[in-house]
Amino acid sequence: MSETNRLIVALDTVDATRARAWADAVAPHSGLLKVGLEFFLANGVPGYRAITGAPIFLDLKLHDIPNTVAGGVRAVLPLRPRMLTIHASGGAAMVRAAHQAASAAGDDRPMILAVTVLTSLDQNDLHAAGVNATPAEQVLRLGRLAIESGADGLVCSPMEVAMLRQALGPAVTLVVPGIRPEGADTGDQARTMNPAQAVAAGADWIVVGRPVTGAPDPGAAAAAIAASIR
Ligand code: C5P
Repeated sequence: MSETNRLIVALDTVDATRARAWADAVAPHSGLLKVGLEFFLANGVPGYRAITGAPIFLDLKLHDIPNTVAGGVRAVLPLRPRMLTIHASGGAAMVRAAHQAASAAGDDRPMILAVTVLTSLDQNDLHAAGVNATPAEQVLRLGRLAIESGADGLVCSPMEVAMLRQALGPAVTLVVPGIRPEGADTGDQARTMNPAQAVAAGADWIVVGRPVTGAPDPGAAAAAIAASIR
């Protein structure tokens, strides 16, 4: 599917057969398919290679010393993911190492996207970890650090996207999960936007999982979301 389709469908399952069926149904309506930790740890490279139909966003959220993260990035380059995630809190040197390792793939290199503050953490969690900033301040601080260190973009919540777009400008790629179409069950996502709201707020890409994969007809659900942001 063309890159002008901003929908990324998250294939969150350990069941390779189910993931392949979802991919076949939604790929014609998706710009990218997201493979995460759960699927990748359960099914490895053979499982990854069986997911076809659209380019892959490999969401492993790498976080380790720079040398190890660089090695991890190099290890997945043969899989040619279009996007790969790391944690900005790993620090500037780690982000630079990831960027440099990815650059070895030339024009085929994956975009490096940084995660800032996990949306599962609130102000109390940050304070308990010794961070005396609000979540929004910390998101912006880590977001700037990641972009200045070579990251191509950030993964951020719907509540952060407008602030980050304003602060970081148009060149930074913003990928936004926590999306719920009108009327969908919010599940464990506390603060959501619908697809069109997220794009209007500045999202380049939206990530949608269960509202698509849990729908009676995942292909139709993906098509409806894609149409709503076309
Ligand atoms: O099913 P749902 O639409 O909630 O899936 C969202 C996807 O985005 C999941 O793969 C989840 O890991 C990911 N994600 C998220 N919130 C974040 C970062 C990533 O929901 N802050």
